[in-house]
Amino acid sequence: MKTLHELHRPLGSTGLRVSPLGLGTVKLGRDQGVKYPNGFTIPDDREAQMLLKLARDLGINLIDTAPAYGTSEERLGPLLRGQRHEWVIVSKVGEEFEGGQSRHDFSAEHTRLSVERSLKRLETDFIDLVLVHSDGNDLAVLNDSGVYQALAELKQQGKIRGYGFSGKTVEGGLLALREGDCAMVTYNLNEQSEKPVLDYAASHGKAILVKKALASGHVCLSPGVDPIQASFELLFAHPGVASAIVGTINPLHLAHNVATAAAVIRRQT
Ligand SMILES: NC(=O)c1ccc[n+]([C@@H]2O[C@H](COP(=O)([O-])OP(=O)(O)OC[C@H]3O[C@@H](n4cnc5c(N)ncnc54)[C@H](OP(=O)(O)O)[C@@H]3O)[C@@H](O)[C@H]2O)c1
Repeated sequence: MKTLHELHRPLGSTGLRVSPLGLGTVKLGRDQGVKYPNGFTIPDDREAQMLLKLARDLGINLIDTAPAYGTSEERLGPLLRGQRHEWVIVSKVGEEFEGGQSRHDFSAEHTRLSVERSLKRLETDFIDLVLVHSDGNDLAVLNDSGVYQALAELKQQGKIRGYGFSGKTVEGGLLALREGDCAMVTYNLNEQSEKPVLDYAASHGKAILVKKALASGHVCLSPGVDPIQASFELLFAHPGVASAIVGTINPLHLAHNVATAAAVIRRQT
């Protein structure tokens, strides 16, 4: 029986190999302005350390963070110290979260400053993948802001290995993939409107990371079939999906998600 370790796959054409499940880290750094069904307490360092160790032991090598996830990046730096080469780290640019409010800046200058700050916070000299944290005006962000050009230059300089876009529209996702390496899309049992972006990625060797794979936990409230299994059957049936980033701070949920993903992928291949 294959474990998650043996199911690592290419992240599009980036040259990176990732586990089919990644760990989302909103809940490691931010508890304001989030839309989860239940309240929660941000894990302390010991709990976060144990969660990361469990994720690694279970075969997860992909971790997703962002400046907009409160203290997530600055906590991950020390928490991942000594393990840099065992993780594929994804971070973002374009959204800041301060005093309980989001604001966006997609300028080239802010993009460079943001990546330099992420490098310091994450205690690393390269970030594997940086995504634009779109505000939903995807085409305007891509066409008018300078963010993609700045990311292309940072890639040339070796500070990031790849770049892409976390958007909200099909048009944005398609344009983002034409020029970049990866699109992060919402795709779950409740919301599949961005499927054409997955289709494009599959036929052009580009990477897809799925966000909100469990609809931010809302699918877990449905009675009947195991909602994790039903979600993963949908996601992993699509050949464009490289990995689903699932945010959990519950070790039992993490173990269940990994076992379910591995079983679903084994059955589908
Ligand atoms: N780029 C963007 O714009 C963007 C936007 C949203 C999210 N993201 C990324 O995607 C990640 C995931 O998105 P998300 O956190 O919004 O939603 P999600 O992964 O769809 O759902 C996370 C929620 O599901 C719950 N959950 C996970 N496994 C479960 C299980 N086995 N049983 C019951 N409940 C379970 C978690 O609660 P427990 O902690 O109790 O397990 C958590 O509240 C984020 O952490 C972030 O890294 C990116």
